[in-house]
Amino acid sequence: MNTRLEMTKKKDNFDEFVESLQQQIIEEELREYNEYIVNLFHNPQNWGKPKDFTVEESYKGSCGDTMQFFLKIDNGIVKDAHFLTDGCGASVATGSQATLMVIGKPMDEVEKLTAKEIDEALHGLPDNHKHCAVLAATTLKKAINKYKNKK
Ligand code: FES
Repeated sequence: MNTRLEMTKKKDNFDEFVESLQQQIIEEELREYNEYIVNLFHNPQNWGKPKDFTVEESYKGSCGDTMQFFLKIDNGIVKDAHFLTDGCGASVATGSQATLMVIGKPMDEVEKLTAKEIDEALHGLPDNHKHCAVLAATTLKKAINKYKNKK
């Protein structure tokens, strides 16, 4: 039977193992992505389906991953924005960044947001993940179009 001291030691070892594993994962990500993007992987902004939204749209990109936006639009202004994705870490970063860029903006401006602008705000995605910003910009555009067509 394990004594309390043995169990505490095992827990400490496990915590150290998890911490070192997380550190290894972050170091690996930093070889491919900048720190700003890695931070968004681990702390996504405006993630999830909110209780209150005006329009929802999802779109599957050329890579096979899907992004979904939930926008709350009032008087032509995007008052709130949330997203979900089943895509890569870069898609979490692009979805997060896109929501940060559109909240409080007129929907006509949001409709024109480009993948390049999202990419620049992220301080540059790696070349093999530029298309993740295209997925975010395209889904947003489709969400605004859907809202306009409903009206
Ligand atoms: Fe599909 Fe990034 S969204 S690879």
